[in-house]
Amino acid sequence: MKKILFVASEGVPFIKTGGLADVVGSLPKCIDKEYFDVRVMIPKYTCIRQELKDLMKYRTHFYLDFYWQSQYVGVLEAEVDGVTYYFIDNESMFSGFRIYSDNVLDEIIKFSFFCKAALSALPLLGFQPDIVHCHDWQTGLIPVYLKERFHDGEFFRNMKSVMTIHNLKFQGKWDVKTVREITGLPDYFFTPDKLEAYKDANLLKGGIVYADAITTVSNTYAEEIKTDFYGEGLNGLLSARSNSLRGIVNGIDYDEFNPETDPYITNNYNAVNFRKEKIKNKRALQAEMGLEQDDKIFMIGLVSRLTDQKGLDLIAYIMDELCQEDIQFVVLGTGEERYENMFRHFDWKYNNKVSANIYYSEALSHKIYAACDAYLMPSLFEPCGLSQLMALRYGTVPIVRETGGLKDTVEPYNEFESTGTGFSFRNYNAHEMLATIRYAKYIYYQRRREWNKMIDREMATDYSWHTSAKKYQEMYDWLIG
Ligand code: ADP
Ligand code: GLC
Repeated sequence: MKKILFVASEGVPFIKTGGLADVVGSLPKCIDKEYFDVRVMIPKYTCIRQELKDLMKYRTHFYLDFYWQSQYVGVLEAEVDGVTYYFIDNESMFSGFRIYSDNVLDEIIKFSFFCKAALSALPLLGFQPDIVHCHDWQTGLIPVYLKERFHDGEFFRNMKSVMTIHNLKFQGKWDVKTVREITGLPDYFFTPDKLEAYKDANLLKGGIVYADAITTVSNTYAEEIKTDFYGEGLNGLLSARSNSLRGIVNGIDYDEFNPETDPYITNNYNAVNFRKEKIKNKRALQAEMGLEQDDKIFMIGLVSRLTDQKGLDLIAYIMDELCQEDIQFVVLGTGEERYENMFRHFDWKYNNKVSANIYYSEALSHKIYAACDAYLMPSLFEPCGLSQLMALRYGTVPIVRETGGLKDTVEPYNEFESTGTGFSFRNYNAHEMLATIRYAKYIYYQRRREWNKMIDREMATDYSWHTSAKKYQEMYDWLIG
């Protein structure tokens, strides 16, 4: 049995801010249990819901030398859907109402602690993974530590690491002197071919330099990050390591996101009866959101972290124009204040057409995926994107910009051949987006049979983990040898 440990900063069902949590919560379940024992390790944040904390059982504790202090590390354990989760506990490190703060130094301290504690806990747990699978900058130190202090001694010597990049924008950067003190790593590691980048220490870079394999979450993003525009300053390194870098597109949990059984939505439906049943969800959502009751109107949805990654500037630019037309727009999201206020403003201005819901809600997100006709995702960059996959699963037509995973998962509609699963535009340009929304709207209003055939094709696509889990397995096999 090959042993894999996922280490990450978030994971469904325990804690989620974005797609990373969905991946960490759903991929391990889909790795073949006959050959692999996959376990997951995340921090025990104080803001995890009590009912989920109640599932955790104390396993062990120890003290860790960290940043001039000896720190308590508790380890708890829980099992969900046959997958073992470990939780690293230290109340002062993982406190607060939110799991990430805007204080970069605090974040660096918190996740450096997490990386060191995660590896130190393994011998005590008696779990010796063949591969530690790390996700994003928060776990970037693990491949480094595996080549450094944890390298001597039998337990860690042959342990391999994989670094998966879900978002290259966040790298964990701070000045070299401070990071050296926090991590306890010797001077040797802080040169431009290792952890240093542009004079600062960079934790994600450490992960990329030292991991045995690097992956990212779509093929297109794997190519994009080797370029200046998407490379966030690490494109040179990623090009240099391109033999060890591959893209594996994300899937979604087809049990959790299933219009036929989804308990959050008013009316369940499937690929056969959506023509009659899906509309009932639209009626219910219009009633719940206080929008005009109108079966026919073209309803566009958006569920997102409200950050500049998501192309919200394009929406801001054309929203007045768009709202002159026969449409409704339902937004669910939280994030940067300027975007939250932008959507509040349009909700106030076009009250019967726009509904802005500035909070986090699992239930409402499912209702939006089910109720809307189209789903808008005009991202500036998008490593993979899960929302458009959820939209496809619910027969809601994605309108996306051709970047990263959006390009790889949404096939543009071709009216001459009657193919495709959505609409897409190429340039980061508000009127190019508006023209694409108008084209989608035209097909919806004027060529409904074509529109419904597109939904047929969408609901026949398969973005479960089926195919991608196999690719991870192949990579694990290849690494372990
Ligand atoms: P990212 O990871 O960049 O945020 P993804 O598309 O990969 O983007 O994943 C976003 C996930 O977070 C989806 O599951 C989406 O439904 C969910 N999500 C985002 N904002 C909210 C919100 N306000 N309420 C509920 N779910 C949300
Ligand atoms: C990141 C990306 C998103 C991706 C998710 C899961 O948050 O922004 O595109 O789907 O990670 O890999």
